[in-house]
Amino acid sequence: MPLIDMYGRKHDYLRISVTDRCNLRCVYCMGDEGVEQLTHSDILSYEEILKVVAAGAELGISKIRITGGEPLVRKGIVGLVGQIASVPGISDLAMTTNGILLPRYAAELKKAGLNRVNISLDTLKPDQYRGVTRCGELQQVLDGIEAALQQDLKPVKLNTVLMKGINDQEVVDFLRMTLEKPLHVRFIEYMPIGDHDRGYPDHYLPLSFVEEAARQAGLPLSPVPLPGGAGPAESFSIPGARGTVGLIHPISKHFCDKCNRLRLTAEGNLKACLYWQDEKPVRPVLNDKKALQALIRDVLTGKPVEHQMAANGICGSVKPGAMRGMSKTGG
Ligand code: 5AD
Ligand code: SF4
Repeated sequence: MPLIDMYGRKHDYLRISVTDRCNLRCVYCMGDEGVEQLTHSDILSYEEILKVVAAGAELGISKIRITGGEPLVRKGIVGLVGQIASVPGISDLAMTTNGILLPRYAAELKKAGLNRVNISLDTLKPDQYRGVTRCGELQQVLDGIEAALQQDLKPVKLNTVLMKGINDQEVVDFLRMTLEKPLHVRFIEYMPIGDHDRGYPDHYLPLSFVEEAARQAGLPLSPVPLPGGAGPAESFSIPGARGTVGLIHPISKHFCDKCNRLRLTAEGNLKACLYWQDEKPVRPVLNDKKALQALIRDVLTGKPVEHQMAANGICGSVKPGAMRGMSKTGG
């Protein structure tokens, strides 16, 4: 029996956060002191993660995304990629990374069986990048993007959180990146999550802003099929471009009705929705595959119809504990 929830949504996609740690501290993700970190014994071992993947694959999970925190800061991550890639039934293996360590790891990841990467990049200005990430060097990410392209970790997607007063004047520069290189730039609406929803009221901008900026710059966006399979993005391209432009509106046009994902947090809790607090620990059932599979179904049964992030965020009253930062949940 495939994994189908109460609302008829089929689930074939598991996102796994392998660490809550990160070598950056993006303003929309962490407080400036960073976050309280989990200790090594709190987080699932690779062996434990593989048990969840194998149990899920038998239930129809075919897509896996490795996220963090920053997955490339966890020791031995290339080995995990190799092991997940060889689990029968897993046909698409992707990673979300900030790209800083990609120059070092892209070739090994490709060899181990990683299919593709999403790289977080919110600004093309070195000073602004240092500001948004609180410590990052832009050139390292740009080198990481080149490494991903060279290794054919494609489609290479960029995740760009649109932030009023921070990168809204760079929208056209990002659009132009798709002209020269086969890059898929996805603008994401700022979400009111974790302790850091404080920035949300000041910096949230709906993505209609991107469409308007494109129009004004004479770069018409025509709808195209999504590169590399389904997802929450609406996809467009500029005539003659090698890449595409994606618009991901978790707030203004949420895509909950098409949601096909489950999440495994770094400390081993299964979540059916990014936003709501509900989650169940896998550790107690890891040595019993049937019980683990029953737990996966159980978590799915409790999946809400939608996240209601906008309602909570706009009132400035995010449900207590409704959401922790992306570094803990997995972006
Ligand atoms: N709003 C929107 N996107 C976010 N991400 C992390 N926090 C937020 C937020 N508050 C996304 C970033 C990053 C990915 C890991 O998660 O785009 O690329
Ligand atoms: Fe790190 Fe990603 Fe969070 Fe930025 S968004 S601090 S790169 S985990």
